[in-house]
Amino acid sequence: MEGSKSIGRISSGIEGLDLKLDGGYPEGRSILITGGTGTGKSIFGIHFLYSACRNGKKCVLIATEEIPEDIIKQSEILGLGLSRYYESGQLVIEKAFQSRSEKVQTSKYGFTPEGLEIELPSLADFIPSSTEVVVIDNIGVFTLRLSIQDFRDQFDALNFVLSSMEGCTAMFIMDETACKMAKNIAEYSVTGSLRLSVNENPYTGNTERYLTIPKMRRTNLKLESIRFEITLEGIRLF
Ligand SMILES: Nc1ncnc2c1ncn2[C@@H]1O[C@H](COP(=O)(O)OP(=O)(O)O)[C@@H](O)[C@H]1O
Ligand SMILES: [Mg+2]
Repeated sequence: MEGSKSIGRISSGIEGLDLKLDGGYPEGRSILITGGTGTGKSIFGIHFLYSACRNGKKCVLIATEEIPEDIIKQSEILGLGLSRYYESGQLVIEKAFQSRSEKVQTSKYGFTPEGLEIELPSLADFIPSSTEVVVIDNIGVFTLRLSIQDFRDQFDALNFVLSSMEGCTAMFIMDETACKMAKNIAEYSVTGSLRLSVNENPYTGNTERYLTIPKMRRTNLKLESIRFEITLEGIRLF
């Protein structure tokens, strides 16, 4: 997939992060964001979508854990308002969670695991070919029942489909539990990976937010732990 000519960059929507990444995420490729609950994964997604929308890009968010109203509300609180893009249709939010829940409710025998099985590559059906930015938050809900081999096959297939969509940059958000169960295999298939965590500073006893970037192809990276905070203006790197 990686050609030899230099690659464009697409803003992460976070100024300090763009500086560390030679201008942003590699355009037209895929990025993985992992971390435990409350580490800020969805907010990284909101920053990315907000920046892309402001730059006139057609965006799709496949949301598996939150309803669109809550995502929009969160974006407005952080000064990264997505509502006007959602209303104009420039940002489409696919409620993958809702359709999964409805499948369970409407199933004749109540809960059937088969009814919940969505093959990862079929997520591409939600994404029109003109899409320039797609965020899938959280891909972990589709993977817990898969063997590692099936996960790798399906994730690579989804990645392949998205990478063959000219100019489409993908962000996969995956919770730490699902990521570990799949032995961090998702990190191999993507162009870049960001890991988020909340750690206690042993010197001060304060709980702090950290970001590490184990991988970003074509980018001169320092392997450092970057501290960040979430403020009323969104994410700010120290
Ligand atoms: N306005 C804010 N100011 C400070 N922290 C915030 C604000 N909004 C959200 N947060 C923090 O962000 C966390 C949620 O981030 P989120 O991206 O939804 O996490 P994840 O998707 O990783 O579970 C909250 O638990 C809270 O600590
Ligand atoms: Mg989230």
